[in-house]
Amino acid sequence: MLRIALTKGRIEEKAVEYLSKSGYDTSELDKDKRGRKLLFKVGSEIEVVLAKAADVITYVERGVCDGGVVGEDTIMEAGANVYELLDLEFGKCRFALAGIKGKNFYEGSGHKIIASKYPEVTKKYFNEKGLDVEVVKIEGSVELGPLLGLSDAIVDIVETGSTLKANGLEVYEDVAQISARFIANVSRIKTKKNEFDKLIAALSETVKKERQNS
Ligand code: PRP
Repeated sequence: MLRIALTKGRIEEKAVEYLSKSGYDTSELDKDKRGRKLLFKVGSEIEVVLAKAADVITYVERGVCDGGVVGEDTIMEAGANVYELLDLEFGKCRFALAGIKGKNFYEGSGHKIIASKYPEVTKKYFNEKGLDVEVVKIEGSVELGPLLGLSDAIVDIVETGSTLKANGLEVYEDVAQISARFIANVSRIKTKKNEFDKLIAALSETVKKERQNS
């Protein structure tokens, strides 16, 4: 038996679709039947837990779940000690440095402030550039940072780019590409090798088929 944590929301919907396409019985997870339940049987071999992204990492790192599906953004921010077993190739987006359209971020030598929901990713990015910036953690609608004059720029997730556009902002540069990953607990990968091998082989096949169909 493998216990797998899925990130609630869009990632979970795609992950359930991929499990179903990989031959697993996901009927307990049907949205119209499941109510407020958080633990589900998927066939006889898998138990699924629904959790928030950062909690998926916590459960997998601490081994109360064997594996999980979570965005690369959360893995990067958590600096998590987990194995990334498979790039599921959905939930694709990118981390970008963005700000007021037409402004040159690097102009001037003044103190730069960056607003982000991802302070660790932001600090690491600027550290690697050798640039000392102040990072302000914002919980959501980070685009408000430059609009309100809180920050010179933001580091945030860009998917379609429409939130930036609607607010007169633009991408200055890409920071990293992101997609959903299947992660595993570092010791469980050895003790439950056969179970992981079977699941990852089935999911890999589905990822391949989806890629061919897209
Ligand atoms: C995310 C992200 C951007 C937006 C990007 O926010 O932080 O704001 O989506 O998507 P787009 O490029 O397709 O416009 P989310 O919807 O999670 O809300 P939040 O900002 O309140 O966290």
